[in-house]
Amino acid sequence: MAVFKVSFLGLVVVMALFSASTLSLAHPAGFNFGWGSGWGSEPSRGHSGYAPAGGSFGLFPQFYQFSCPQANDIVISVLQQAIAREPRSGGPNWDLPLGRRDSRTASLSGSNSNIPAPNSTLSTLLTFFNRQGLDEVDLVALSGGHTIGVARCVTFKQRLYNQRGNNQPDETLERSYYFGLKSVCPSSGGDNNISPLDFASPAKFDNAYFKLILFGKGLLTSDQVLLTGNGNGNGNAGKTMELVKTYADDESLFFQQFAKSMVKMGNIRPLTGSKGEVRNNCRRLN
Ligand SMILES: *[C@@H]1O[C@H](CO)[C@@H](O)[C@H](O)[C@H]1NC(C)=O
Repeated sequence: MAVFKVSFLGLVVVMALFSASTLSLAHPAGFNFGWGSGWGSEPSRGHSGYAPAGGSFGLFPQFYQFSCPQANDIVISVLQQAIAREPRSGGPNWDLPLGRRDSRTASLSGSNSNIPAPNSTLSTLLTFFNRQGLDEVDLVALSGGHTIGVARCVTFKQRLYNQRGNNQPDETLERSYYFGLKSVCPSSGGDNNISPLDFASPAKFDNAYFKLILFGKGLLTSDQVLLTGNGNGNGNAGKTMELVKTYADDESLFFQQFAKSMVKMGNIRPLTGSKGEVRNNCRRLN
């Protein structure tokens, strides 16, 4: 099968170039960035590289192949140079199986019922992953994708003010981190304020995400429970806890497994052959 070498960051760049929708939805324009420069973050630079909200890139990878074959090699090589110059470099490479086609349908409710919420317990995370044929190893490795990016206050507010319906914060949050987050995310309003998922190196693909979890500095409940279990005092993290420690210790092992799990995830019911379609515009059905 034909393959194309990619890295996670390369993939993000390609997605940003060819499919503005995903990233602009994930990173709505007009938010405030919460952490000050003292946290070592570089939000505006990180975000200027993302797809502009409402941008209208109509290109798709084969665009020049069909419309202007002479330009194809030039475009590909410019793209490769752009990826190589990406300041947020680092992370693994892997062979990406090709031949996958776009869906002819899209479902918001379907996505919402298959993607676990950020306040999920460990059991819920595992249930959702298992349903797709993914195991604990995939869960922990793919969660490591949170080494890049930010989350909105609304996704971690519950942890700060009312984790278990008793108006108390999540006791697994490290204290100074907790106070920092409270200053970004007030108990009412500020839902779109953002905080890095890995504040140690929010724009670098590395294993700092796992190190932070070991210090009680995972941003989302779904990050921290990989170490602490269901977070209800029962623990039970077992295997995922061991994996967090392993990846915090050994970055290259994390990179290897991340690559494997990305390919495995990409093999969940892909549309190939004559199924689905190749969209003329990534953002719309033909
Ligand atoms: C997660 O948040 C939703 C929406 O606010 C809430 O209904 C649900 O009970 C929360 N789940 C947990 C485990 O706290």
